[in-house]
Amino acid sequence: FTVDWDTGHYDNGGYEHYLLKEISEQPDTVARTLRGRIDDRFHIAHLGGLNMDARETRSFRRVKIIGCGSAYYSGQIGAQLIEELARIPADAEPASEFRYRNPVVEPDTLYVAISQSGETYDTLAAVQELKRKGGRVLGIVNTVGSAIARECDGGLYLHAGPEVSVASTKAFTSTAVSFALLALHLARVRDLSPADGRRICEGLRKLPEQIEQILKLDEHIKTLAEKYAQAPSMMFVGRVRGYPVAREGAQKLKEISYVHAEAYPASELKHGPLALISHELPTVAIVPDDELLDKNLTTLGEIRARSGRILMIGHRTADAADDCVVVPKNETELDPILLTIPLQLFAYHAAVALGRDVDRPRNLAKSVTVE
Ligand code: G6P
Repeated sequence: FTVDWDTGHYDNGGYEHYLLKEISEQPDTVARTLRGRIDDRFHIAHLGGLNMDARETRSFRRVKIIGCGSAYYSGQIGAQLIEELARIPADAEPASEFRYRNPVVEPDTLYVAISQSGETYDTLAAVQELKRKGGRVLGIVNTVGSAIARECDGGLYLHAGPEVSVASTKAFTSTAVSFALLALHLARVRDLSPADGRRICEGLRKLPEQIEQILKLDEHIKTLAEKYAQAPSMMFVGRVRGYPVAREGAQKLKEISYVHAEAYPASELKHGPLALISHELPTVAIVPDDELLDKNLTTLGEIRARSGRILMIGHRTADAADDCVVVPKNETELDPILLTIPLQLFAYHAAVALGRDVDRPRNLAKSVTVE
């Protein structure tokens, strides 16, 4: 199934591809997602569109997030943010799986549907099923007035502007930022202290400037992409906060460069995929400076001992890695948002190096509006 659309009426801003334009816009699009939503008095997020008072916001005992493709991976980042900040059990699931397994819908669960287009059929059908069973559903959607936005009880718009390139970049990032706002909101009506609330607010404010700094690494990342794009396959690994980042990084590479990529939790490598590691299969390792740093560095040593080449994305360099991309550090909870940006540039430059149709990859559609 494909959708034909005319990109002629969108301005490419002088960029060679919409994808690069959309990656480059992110300091601005993230600022738009945040605009007017940070409350400096109570260190909470202003999210009027949720249509819920504090009592109702406190009443949920579980959060279930659904979406497809990159929306699902950003939902995994969102689940971790909500669990970490608000201490509410949260998890993400592909909307397509969710709707087909006759899900148990509980009154004390908050459901969150994610969609850039707001028209993805599987996500819409999942929302309709939830509504039919009396579920409370919020939408995190980019397209104002879209089918999913209309179907939900409330939510947040991304305000990221139209995303033209099939592979999602700025919408992914703005969705993760929206989840940070939602997590802060849920957390501050529960037990997150004002001091921790302030810490997260300050971290959120730093994001646009830090994304700007990451974009300046473009030439370095291009060189790395050209080097690694020759590999027939790549492994992406990350632990806990790094794992959804690894999944999205692998997804971007697959979608636009057609290089096979597999994402694994770093801790699971030794339970199977370590057998694949060799000089021919490079690994992209997501290694933030968090409490799992030592564990991650041990994993790098295990890969290296099997002659695996390593590209590390993190907050420092490491001897075990062949190449490193060092990104600015934010608050630990918010770091996954920044760690994703170099992987977007990596996939982009790999796809260009391999001569792919970057904005319109084969077999994919921007919006899948049928089953
Ligand atoms: C399609 C696109 C993906 C996108 C997914 C969800 O499969 O190729 O890039 O992540 O749909 O789209 P949505 O508009 O619901 O976020």
